[in-house]
Amino acid sequence: MNEKKKTALSAIKPTGRPHIGNYFGAMREFVNMQDTFNLYVFVADYHALTTVTSGKTLREQSYDLILDYLAIGLDPEKVILYKQSDIPEVTELMWIFDCLVTMPWLERAHAFKDRTTKGIEATVGLFNYPVLMAADIVLPNADLVPVGKDQVQHVEMTRELVRKFNAQYGETFKEPTEAIREELAIIPGTDGQKMSKSYGNIIPLFGTDAEIKKAIMSIVTDSKEPSEPKNPEECNVFAIHKLITPEPQLSEIRKGYLEGGLGYGDSKKMLLENYLAFITPMREKRKYYEENPGIVRQILDEGRQKIQAIVRAKMKEVREKVGL
Ligand code: ADP
Ligand code: TRP
Repeated sequence: MNEKKKTALSAIKPTGRPHIGNYFGAMREFVNMQDTFNLYVFVADYHALTTVTSGKTLREQSYDLILDYLAIGLDPEKVILYKQSDIPEVTELMWIFDCLVTMPWLERAHAFKDRTTKGIEATVGLFNYPVLMAADIVLPNADLVPVGKDQVQHVEMTRELVRKFNAQYGETFKEPTEAIREELAIIPGTDGQKMSKSYGNIIPLFGTDAEIKKAIMSIVTDSKEPSEPKNPEECNVFAIHKLITPEPQLSEIRKGYLEGGLGYGDSKKMLLENYLAFITPMREKRKYYEENPGIVRQILDEGRQKIQAIVRAKMKEVREKVGL
Protein backbone atom coordinates (compact mmCIF):
# COMPACT_ATOMS: atom_id res chain seq x y z
CA MET A 1 0.00 0.00 0.00
CA ASN A 2 1.25 3.45 -0.92
CA GLU A 3 0.81 5.83 2.02
CA LYS A 4 0.75 8.91 -0.19
CA LYS A 5 -2.16 7.73 -2.29
CA LYS A 6 -5.76 8.07 -1.19
CA THR A 7 -7.81 4.96 -0.79
CA ALA A 8 -10.82 4.29 -3.00
CA LEU A 9 -13.22 1.42 -2.44
CA SER A 10 -16.23 0.10 -4.27
CA ALA A 11 -18.28 -3.00 -4.89
CA ILE A 12 -20.99 -4.55 -6.98
CA LYS A 13 -23.56 -7.07 -5.83
CA PRO A 14 -23.39 -10.45 -7.58
CA THR A 15 -27.10 -10.39 -8.36
CA GLY A 16 -26.93 -11.19 -12.08
CA ARG A 17 -24.90 -10.40 -15.13
CA PRO A 18 -23.52 -6.89 -15.21
CA HIS A 19 -24.90 -4.58 -17.86
CA ILE A 20 -23.44 -1.59 -19.63
CA GLY A 21 -25.06 0.69 -17.03
CA ASN A 22 -22.95 -1.02 -14.37
CA TYR A 23 -19.88 -0.78 -16.57
CA PHE A 24 -20.08 2.87 -17.58
CA GLY A 25 -21.71 3.96 -14.32
CA ALA A 26 -19.28 2.20 -12.01
CA MET A 27 -16.92 -0.52 -13.17
CA ARG A 28 -15.02 1.55 -15.70
CA GLU A 29 -14.30 4.08 -12.98
CA PHE A 30 -12.60 1.36 -10.98
CA VAL A 31 -10.23 0.66 -13.84
CA ASN A 32 -9.49 4.36 -14.27
CA MET A 33 -8.70 4.72 -10.58
CA GLN A 34 -6.31 1.81 -10.18
CA ASP A 35 -3.20 3.82 -11.01
CA THR A 36 -3.92 6.84 -8.84
CA PHE A 37 -5.47 5.28 -5.75
CA ASN A 38 -4.95 2.43 -3.38
CA LEU A 39 -7.98 0.69 -4.76
CA TYR A 40 -10.16 -1.95 -3.11
CA VAL A 41 -12.84 -3.61 -5.18
CA PHE A 42 -15.01 -6.39 -3.87
CA VAL A 43 -17.94 -8.65 -4.63
CA ALA A 44 -20.76 -7.61 -2.29
CA ASP A 45 -22.03 -11.12 -1.62
CA TYR A 46 -23.45 -10.36 1.85
CA HIS A 47 -25.49 -7.56 0.30
CA ALA A 48 -26.65 -9.88 -2.47
CA LEU A 49 -28.27 -12.11 0.16
CA THR A 50 -31.02 -9.49 0.38
CA THR A 51 -32.22 -10.77 -2.99
CA VAL A 52 -30.40 -13.98 -3.96
CA THR A 53 -31.69 -16.95 -1.98
CA SER A 54 -30.03 -19.88 -3.77
CA GLY A 55 -26.58 -20.82 -2.48
CA LYS A 56 -25.56 -22.25 -5.82
CA THR A 57 -26.65 -19.16 -7.72
CA LEU A 58 -24.90 -16.82 -5.33
CA ARG A 59 -21.66 -18.79 -5.54
CA GLU A 60 -21.74 -18.86 -9.34
CA GLN A 61 -22.63 -15.21 -9.69
CA SER A 62 -19.91 -14.18 -7.25
CA TYR A 63 -17.32 -16.07 -9.28
CA ASP A 64 -18.66 -14.60 -12.52
CA LEU A 65 -18.33 -11.10 -11.14
CA ILE A 66 -14.68 -11.74 -10.28
CA LEU A 67 -14.14 -12.85 -13.89
CA ASP A 68 -15.90 -9.68 -15.06
CA TYR A 69 -13.69 -7.50 -12.87
CA LEU A 70 -10.58 -9.12 -14.30
CA ALA A 71 -11.93 -8.96 -17.85
CA ILE A 72 -12.60 -5.21 -17.75
CA GLY A 73 -8.98 -4.65 -16.85
CA LEU A 74 -8.70 -4.55 -13.09
CA ASP A 75 -5.12 -5.54 -12.45
CA PRO A 76 -4.60 -7.71 -9.37
CA GLU A 77 -1.10 -6.27 -9.06
CA LYS A 78 -2.63 -2.86 -8.44
CA VAL A 79 -6.03 -3.55 -6.90
CA ILE A 80 -7.05 -5.53 -3.84
CA LEU A 81 -9.84 -7.74 -5.16
CA TYR A 82 -11.89 -9.70 -2.66
CA LYS A 83 -15.20 -11.13 -1.63
CA GLN A 84 -17.07 -9.24 1.08
CA SER A 85 -17.70 -12.48 2.96
CA ASP A 86 -13.93 -13.03 3.24
CA ILE A 87 -14.04 -10.32 5.91
CA PRO A 88 -16.85 -11.23 8.30
CA GLU A 89 -15.56 -8.34 10.44
CA VAL A 90 -17.88 -6.11 8.42
CA THR A 91 -20.89 -7.85 9.90
CA GLU A 92 -19.49 -7.44 13.38
CA LEU A 93 -18.96 -3.74 12.79
CA MET A 94 -22.48 -3.54 11.37
CA TRP A 95 -23.82 -4.76 14.69
CA ILE A 96 -21.81 -2.17 16.60
CA PHE A 97 -23.12 0.52 14.25
CA ASP A 98 -26.65 -0.85 14.61
CA CYS A 99 -26.51 -0.03 18.26
CA LEU A 100 -25.78 3.62 17.43
CA VAL A 101 -28.48 4.33 14.84
CA THR A 102 -32.22 4.51 15.19
CA MET A 103 -35.00 2.91 13.20
CA PRO A 104 -36.37 6.29 11.92
CA TRP A 105 -32.89 7.14 10.65
CA LEU A 106 -32.78 3.91 8.63
CA GLU A 107 -36.36 4.28 7.44
CA ARG A 108 -35.23 7.21 5.26
CA ALA A 109 -33.11 4.94 3.05
CA HIS A 110 -34.37 4.79 -0.56
CA ALA A 111 -34.11 1.02 -0.98
CA PHE A 112 -36.21 0.43 2.10
CA LYS A 113 -38.72 3.18 1.26
CA ASP A 114 -39.17 1.93 -2.33
CA ARG A 115 -40.08 -1.49 -1.07
CA THR A 116 -42.41 -0.51 1.70
CA THR A 117 -44.27 2.07 -0.41
CA LYS A 118 -44.93 -0.75 -2.88
CA GLY A 119 -46.51 -2.64 0.00
CA ILE A 120 -43.72 -5.25 0.12
CA GLU A 121 -42.42 -6.18 3.54
CA ALA A 122 -38.67 -5.58 3.82
CA THR A 123 -36.38 -8.07 5.52
CA VAL A 124 -34.26 -6.84 8.40
CA GLY A 125 -31.29 -7.35 6.06
CA LEU A 126 -32.67 -4.91 3.52
CA PHE A 127 -33.49 -2.45 6.28
CA ASN A 128 -29.94 -2.71 7.53
CA TYR A 129 -28.36 -2.52 4.08
CA PRO A 130 -26.91 0.99 4.52
CA VAL A 131 -25.29 0.05 7.81
CA LEU A 132 -23.51 -2.94 6.28
CA MET A 133 -22.37 -0.73 3.43
CA ALA A 134 -21.03 1.83 5.91
CA ALA A 135 -19.02 -0.95 7.57
CA ASP A 136 -17.65 -2.01 4.16
CA ILE A 137 -16.46 1.50 3.48
CA VAL A 138 -14.98 2.54 6.80
CA LEU A 139 -13.31 -0.64 7.94
CA PRO A 140 -10.53 -0.39 5.31
CA ASN A 141 -10.48 3.42 5.83
CA ALA A 142 -11.67 4.45 2.36
CA ASP A 143 -11.45 8.12 1.37
CA LEU A 144 -13.35 7.86 -1.87
CA VAL A 145 -16.26 5.70 -3.01
CA PRO A 146 -16.91 5.59 -6.76
CA VAL A 147 -20.61 4.82 -7.26
CA GLY A 148 -23.63 5.63 -9.38
CA LYS A 149 -26.12 8.30 -8.33
CA ASP A 150 -28.44 5.80 -6.68
CA GLN A 151 -25.78 4.98 -4.12
CA VAL A 152 -25.00 8.50 -3.01
CA GLN A 153 -27.46 8.38 -0.13
CA HIS A 154 -25.63 5.38 1.28
CA VAL A 155 -22.33 7.25 1.30
CA GLU A 156 -24.02 10.22 2.97
CA MET A 157 -25.41 7.90 5.62
CA THR A 158 -21.93 6.47 6.07
CA ARG A 159 -20.60 9.93 6.85
CA GLU A 160 -23.34 10.47 9.42
CA LEU A 161 -22.53 7.15 11.02
CA VAL A 162 -18.83 7.98 11.16
CA ARG A 163 -19.60 11.26 12.91
CA LYS A 164 -21.81 9.46 15.38
CA PHE A 165 -19.24 6.79 16.13
CA ASN A 166 -16.36 9.23 16.42
CA ALA A 167 -18.39 11.50 18.71
CA GLN A 168 -19.21 8.56 20.94
CA TYR A 169 -15.90 6.70 21.02
CA GLY A 170 -13.28 9.16 19.81
CA GLU A 171 -11.72 9.72 16.38
CA THR A 172 -11.66 6.29 14.71
CA PHE A 173 -13.00 6.43 11.16
CA LYS A 174 -12.61 8.77 8.19
CA GLU A 175 -15.59 10.42 6.51
CA PRO A 176 -15.69 9.06 2.95
CA THR A 177 -16.69 11.00 -0.17
CA GLU A 178 -18.59 9.66 -3.16
CA ALA A 179 -17.12 10.00 -6.66
CA ILE A 180 -19.83 10.17 -9.34
CA ARG A 181 -19.37 10.79 -13.02
CA GLU A 182 -22.02 13.45 -13.48
CA GLU A 183 -22.28 13.51 -17.24
CA LEU A 184 -23.23 9.90 -17.55
CA ALA A 185 -24.59 9.25 -14.12
CA ILE A 186 -27.70 7.42 -15.29
CA ILE A 187 -27.55 5.20 -18.34
CA PRO A 188 -30.90 4.49 -19.98
CA GLY A 189 -32.04 0.94 -20.64
CA THR A 190 -33.64 -0.36 -23.81
CA ASP A 191 -37.01 1.01 -22.65
CA GLY A 192 -35.62 4.46 -21.79
CA GLN A 193 -35.90 3.99 -18.00
CA LYS A 194 -32.72 3.67 -15.94
CA MET A 195 -30.94 0.50 -17.07
CA SER A 196 -31.36 -2.02 -14.28
CA LYS A 197 -31.27 -5.78 -13.79
CA SER A 198 -34.62 -5.48 -12.08
CA TYR A 199 -36.37 -3.78 -15.04
CA GLY A 200 -35.47 -6.33 -17.74
CA ASN A 201 -34.15 -3.53 -19.95
CA ILE A 202 -30.43 -4.28 -19.98
CA ILE A 203 -27.71 -4.64 -22.54
CA PRO A 204 -25.60 -7.39 -20.91
CA LEU A 205 -21.95 -6.33 -20.87
CA PHE A 206 -20.68 -9.81 -21.73
CA GLY A 207 -23.72 -10.97 -23.66
CA THR A 208 -23.32 -13.10 -26.79
CA ASP A 209 -23.51 -11.38 -30.17
CA ALA A 210 -27.12 -12.52 -30.50
CA GLU A 211 -28.11 -11.23 -27.06
CA ILE A 212 -26.50 -7.88 -27.67
CA LYS A 213 -28.07 -7.58 -31.10
CA LYS A 214 -31.49 -8.37 -29.67
CA ALA A 215 -31.09 -5.80 -26.90
CA ILE A 216 -29.81 -3.02 -29.15
CA MET A 217 -32.46 -3.60 -31.80
CA SER A 218 -35.15 -3.39 -29.12
CA ILE A 219 -34.13 0.06 -27.84
CA VAL A 220 -37.24 2.20 -27.80
CA THR A 221 -37.30 5.26 -30.09
CA ASP A 222 -40.02 7.58 -31.34
CA SER A 223 -41.56 6.94 -34.75
CA LYS A 224 -39.78 9.60 -36.83
CA GLU A 225 -38.95 8.64 -40.42
CA PRO A 226 -35.26 8.36 -41.41
CA SER A 227 -35.47 11.61 -43.40
CA GLU A 228 -36.88 13.68 -40.53
CA PRO A 229 -34.59 15.74 -38.27
CA LYS A 230 -34.27 14.28 -34.76
CA ASN A 231 -32.95 15.43 -31.43
CA PRO A 232 -30.00 13.17 -30.56
CA GLU A 233 -30.18 14.20 -26.92
CA GLU A 234 -33.64 12.67 -26.64
CA CYS A 235 -32.69 9.38 -28.28
CA ASN A 236 -31.89 6.29 -26.17
CA VAL A 237 -29.74 4.87 -28.98
CA PHE A 238 -27.67 8.02 -29.18
CA ALA A 239 -27.22 8.04 -25.39
CA ILE A 240 -25.31 4.77 -25.78
CA HIS A 241 -23.45 5.92 -28.90
CA LYS A 242 -22.02 8.66 -26.71
CA LEU A 243 -20.44 6.02 -24.49
CA ILE A 244 -19.09 3.75 -27.19
CA THR A 245 -18.83 5.36 -30.59
CA PRO A 246 -15.51 7.09 -31.26
CA GLU A 247 -15.03 10.42 -32.97
CA PRO A 248 -15.34 11.48 -35.74
CA GLN A 249 -18.14 8.96 -36.29
CA LEU A 250 -20.04 10.22 -33.27
CA SER A 251 -20.20 13.75 -34.70
CA GLU A 252 -21.33 12.37 -38.04
CA ILE A 253 -24.13 10.48 -36.36
CA ARG A 254 -25.15 13.56 -34.39
CA LYS A 255 -25.28 15.48 -37.67
CA GLY A 256 -27.39 12.73 -39.26
CA TYR A 257 -29.91 13.08 -36.45
CA LEU A 258 -30.02 16.87 -36.47
CA GLU A 259 -30.24 17.28 -40.24
CA GLY A 260 -32.31 14.19 -40.92
CA GLY A 261 -31.19 11.36 -43.18
CA LEU A 262 -30.13 8.92 -40.48
CA GLY A 263 -32.84 6.48 -39.40
CA TYR A 264 -33.02 4.81 -36.02
CA GLY A 265 -32.50 1.38 -37.61
CA ASP A 266 -29.19 2.43 -39.12
CA SER A 267 -28.15 4.16 -35.95
CA LYS A 268 -28.75 0.89 -34.08
CA LYS A 269 -26.76 -1.12 -36.62
CA MET A 270 -23.78 1.19 -36.19
CA LEU A 271 -24.15 0.95 -32.44
CA LEU A 272 -24.10 -2.84 -32.58
CA GLU A 273 -20.97 -2.87 -34.73
CA ASN A 274 -19.21 -0.44 -32.42
CA TYR A 275 -20.28 -2.33 -29.33
CA LEU A 276 -18.81 -5.57 -30.63
CA ALA A 277 -15.54 -3.84 -31.45
CA PHE A 278 -15.48 -2.34 -27.98
CA ILE A 279 -16.21 -5.58 -26.11
CA THR A 280 -14.05 -8.04 -28.07
CA PRO A 281 -10.76 -7.45 -26.19
CA MET A 282 -12.52 -7.74 -22.84
CA ARG A 283 -14.25 -10.93 -23.93
CA GLU A 284 -10.87 -12.43 -24.80
CA LYS A 285 -9.51 -11.56 -21.39
CA ARG A 286 -12.55 -13.05 -19.71
CA LYS A 287 -12.09 -16.26 -21.67
CA TYR A 288 -8.48 -16.48 -20.52
CA TYR A 289 -9.50 -16.35 -16.85
CA GLU A 290 -12.41 -18.74 -17.43
CA GLU A 291 -9.92 -21.25 -18.76
CA ASN A 292 -7.46 -20.68 -15.90
CA PRO A 293 -9.41 -21.06 -12.64
CA GLY A 294 -6.19 -21.70 -10.71
CA ILE A 295 -5.01 -18.19 -11.48
CA VAL A 296 -8.34 -16.75 -10.38
CA ARG A 297 -8.18 -18.70 -7.12
CA GLN A 298 -4.70 -17.39 -6.45
CA ILE A 299 -5.80 -13.80 -7.11
CA LEU A 300 -8.67 -14.21 -4.66
CA ASP A 301 -6.42 -15.79 -2.03
CA GLU A 302 -3.98 -12.91 -2.25
CA GLY A 303 -6.79 -10.34 -2.12
CA ARG A 304 -8.25 -12.01 0.94
CA GLN A 305 -4.95 -12.07 2.79
CA LYS A 306 -4.26 -8.41 2.08
CA ILE A 307 -7.68 -7.14 3.05
CA GLN A 308 -7.88 -9.32 6.15
CA ALA A 309 -4.65 -7.85 7.49
CA ILE A 310 -5.95 -4.29 7.02
CA VAL A 311 -9.39 -4.93 8.41
CA ARG A 312 -8.33 -6.98 11.41
CA ALA A 313 -6.05 -4.24 12.68
CA LYS A 314 -8.87 -1.72 12.46
CA MET A 315 -11.37 -4.04 14.08
CA LYS A 316 -9.03 -4.61 16.99
CA GLU A 317 -9.01 -0.85 17.61
CA VAL A 318 -12.81 -0.72 17.38
CA ARG A 319 -13.29 -3.58 19.80
CA GLU A 320 -11.03 -1.91 22.33
CA LYS A 321 -12.86 1.39 22.00
CA VAL A 322 -16.35 -0.03 22.44
CA GLY A 323 -15.30 -2.31 25.28
CA LEU A 324 -15.43 -5.76 23.70
P1 ADP B 1 -29.04 -2.83 -10.98
O1 ADP B 1 -29.90 -1.60 -10.87
O2 ADP B 1 -28.96 -3.32 -12.36
O3 ADP B 1 -29.40 -3.89 -9.98
P2 ADP B 1 -26.85 -2.35 -9.20
O4 ADP B 1 -27.78 -1.72 -8.22
O5 ADP B 1 -26.30 -3.70 -8.93
O6 ADP B 1 -27.57 -2.36 -10.63
O7 ADP B 1 -25.69 -1.34 -9.50
C1 ADP B 1 -24.28 -1.60 -9.44
C2 ADP B 1 -23.53 -0.31 -9.72
O8 ADP B 1 -23.80 0.15 -11.06
C3 ADP B 1 -23.93 0.84 -8.80
O9 ADP B 1 -22.79 1.62 -8.48
C4 ADP B 1 -24.90 1.63 -9.62
O10 ADP B 1 -24.94 2.96 -9.23
C5 ADP B 1 -24.36 1.44 -11.03
N1 ADP B 1 -25.45 1.48 -12.00
C6 ADP B 1 -26.47 0.60 -12.10
N2 ADP B 1 -27.31 0.93 -13.10
C7 ADP B 1 -26.82 2.05 -13.64
C8 ADP B 1 -27.24 2.90 -14.71
N3 ADP B 1 -28.32 2.62 -15.43
N4 ADP B 1 -26.51 3.97 -14.99
C9 ADP B 1 -25.41 4.24 -14.27
N5 ADP B 1 -24.94 3.50 -13.27
C10 ADP B 1 -25.63 2.42 -12.93
N1 TRP C 1 -24.76 -1.11 -2.47
C1 TRP C 1 -23.92 -1.13 -3.63
C2 TRP C 1 -24.80 -1.32 -4.88
O1 TRP C 1 -25.91 -1.78 -4.77
C3 TRP C 1 -22.89 -2.22 -3.54
C4 TRP C 1 -21.99 -2.01 -2.38
C5 TRP C 1 -21.95 -2.73 -1.23
C6 TRP C 1 -21.01 -0.99 -2.26
N2 TRP C 1 -21.00 -2.23 -0.40
C7 TRP C 1 -20.41 -1.17 -0.99
C8 TRP C 1 -20.60 0.04 -3.10
C9 TRP C 1 -19.41 -0.31 -0.55
C10 TRP C 1 -19.59 0.88 -2.65
C11 TRP C 1 -19.00 0.72 -1.39
O2 TRP C 1 -24.36 -1.03 -5.94
